[in-house]
Amino acid sequence: MKLTDEQMKKTWEDSFSEQVARQAYNTSPVEALVRNIAYYLREKCPQGNYEKLHFMEMGCGAGPNLIWLAQKGIKVSGVDIAPTALELARNNLAHAGYSGKIGQLVEASVCKTPFADGTFDGILEACVFQHLAKEDRIAAFNEVRRLLKPGGLFVGYMLAEGHSVFQSKKSQQLKDDAGTLMLEEGKSKFYLTNIGLSHFFSKGEYAKLLKGFSIIDPCLATYYLPKFEAAKRGYPEYLQAMWALYAVK
Ligand SMILES: C[S@@+](CC[C@H](N)C(=O)[O-])C[C@H]1O[C@@H](n2cnc3c(N)ncnc32)[C@H](O)[C@@H]1O
Repeated sequence: MKLTDEQMKKTWEDSFSEQVARQAYNTSPVEALVRNIAYYLREKCPQGNYEKLHFMEMGCGAGPNLIWLAQKGIKVSGVDIAPTALELARNNLAHAGYSGKIGQLVEASVCKTPFADGTFDGILEACVFQHLAKEDRIAAFNEVRRLLKPGGLFVGYMLAEGHSVFQSKKSQQLKDDAGTLMLEEGKSKFYLTNIGLSHFFSKGEYAKLLKGFSIIDPCLATYYLPKFEAAKRGYPEYLQAMWALYAVK
């Protein structure tokens, strides 16, 4: 089920062209991520001197999380497989007045990035690792470990197995990759649970994926979508269940 980088790029370029046409790509920071980063910053830099920090987002999309970090004075880098996403991120950072805070925005897979070992004080990902096949998922977590400085922060936001989509279809999970469904209905790649491969993490998985980290703390966030929104996605009821993962190397 593993996709090549070219196939992955096409999937996400298709998703972005639909999102841009509908003016619906994400433009606001992911609350669960920025909260966890804020807790970390309060401990690490009580004086608020964030200028010396360098954070990187894996799968940065249009860059709303990077803008939030840049607003705090943090240097920001990002990787994304979709050139459209990188162009949006660069433009949005410039528009917000933070071009000077950009380290590098590079087209690459999160499984293999061009950065040196121990480059970053913090790494974030939101709704990216959940769409990677097992082999790539392990590679992406290994990349996080390689790229973080000792004591560096990793925050993630990923589908959890309590999600109603997983609960309703779990008989279809892949035999060789528990927690993974292939969710493709029609051509639309607008909703994330329709992007193709979707992995719904269990809490226990993180200890293995982040072996060697001093803190691994996945916090569960669940909420029901309003019924009309659930119906748009083809479900009578839709329970979002996400891990807001806080981990320190
Ligand atoms: C759901 S969007 C999230 C964007 C952003 N993190 C946010 O919170 O707005 C997922 C992003 O990850 C990127 N992506 C997906 N698979 C990737 C991969 N293997 N390597 C790098 N980027 C990837 C997509 O192009 C897309 O921009």
